[in-house]
Amino acid sequence: MEAEPEPATIVPLCRPAAALEVAEACPVPPSLQAADALAPVFVGATRRITFFSLNGGAGRTTLATELACLLAARGRHRPGPGAAARPLRVALLDLDLRSATVAVRLGIPQPTLWDYLLSGDQGPGALDRHMVTHGSGARALLGPPKPLSGGTAVEPARVAEIVHRLECDGTHFILFDVGADLGAVTTWVLSAAHDIYVVLTPTASGVQDAYRSTEALRRLGLGSKLRYVVNRARPGIDLDEVMGDLGGRIAASIPFDPRIEEAENGHRIASLDGGGPAAEALAGLAAQVYPALSPPAARRRLRLFGRRRVG
Ligand SMILES: Nc1ncnc2c1ncn2[C@@H]1O[C@H](COP(=O)(O)OP(=O)(O)O)[C@@H](O)[C@H]1O
Ligand SMILES: [Mg+2]
Repeated sequence: MEAEPEPATIVPLCRPAAALEVAEACPVPPSLQAADALAPVFVGATRRITFFSLNGGAGRTTLATELACLLAARGRHRPGPGAAARPLRVALLDLDLRSATVAVRLGIPQPTLWDYLLSGDQGPGALDRHMVTHGSGARALLGPPKPLSGGTAVEPARVAEIVHRLECDGTHFILFDVGADLGAVTTWVLSAAHDIYVVLTPTASGVQDAYRSTEALRRLGLGSKLRYVVNRARPGIDLDEVMGDLGGRIAASIPFDPRIEEAENGHRIASLDGGGPAAEALAGLAAQVYPALSPPAARRRLRLFGRRRVG
């Protein structure tokens, strides 16, 4: 029998696609105690992740918020071999400037990006003072409470600065919630992201949107970063042909689950409430993004798989 991974096992953040599939199959999160014991040394740079669709209501905010809170609450790392395990540092940036809803999802109204920009304060600690901390540990820069008028548009350079600051502060994951558009800020985020998950809802208009989104993102030269998350999935809907056309891969399939809306209405995070098919699927997605969140058995299988590939 295989030994458990050493606590200081280094889990690289860039994984072969095959390894991702193995992690996805095992959504049950380890207990926090086990996660501490197995926390890997975090290597690599900050991972920037976004969810995209040209249709509103696909689930971009839900997925970005759930994933950010899940990674912050359950993810553990070690700054170096032998160091004590610590929670991952996760930032959630609400850059859906016309329809910012992360504040409502988290149940924290302010301060917002608006306050940060209007403060004119760019000194040390200013960004930190304008970010809120959710109970999960995730830090969020909330979006403007109402759409910004033309004269006060946010420049992508300001967003770049914010991201740079977060990275200098040792943030491990940055999750971006963006608008259903290809405006300057969204385009900057898409270019800066390492992973773009196109959110595909399994309806006729959802599928049409996935084609449109894919085409638009490929035109921007972003095709290599695209993955697909099916959201509001229902049994019996086969997307093989669609994925064949798109030449893509479904990274995760989040079922339709009324607990998501219940959690939204109570300003809770469904995947942290636990229970239910959507929470399980979200845990699977989090384990793909950060393999240390896979249960030990899944990691063992992942290693065996890797050996077969090498041998
Ligand atoms: N898997 C799901 N099951 C049930 N309801 C969902 C699911 N995903 C999202 N929703 C609900 O759908 C609505 C739209 O989701 P949202 O994340 O706000 O979309 P977007 O940010 O793309 O506009 C929200 O009310 C959310 O609670
Ligand atoms: Mg949204």
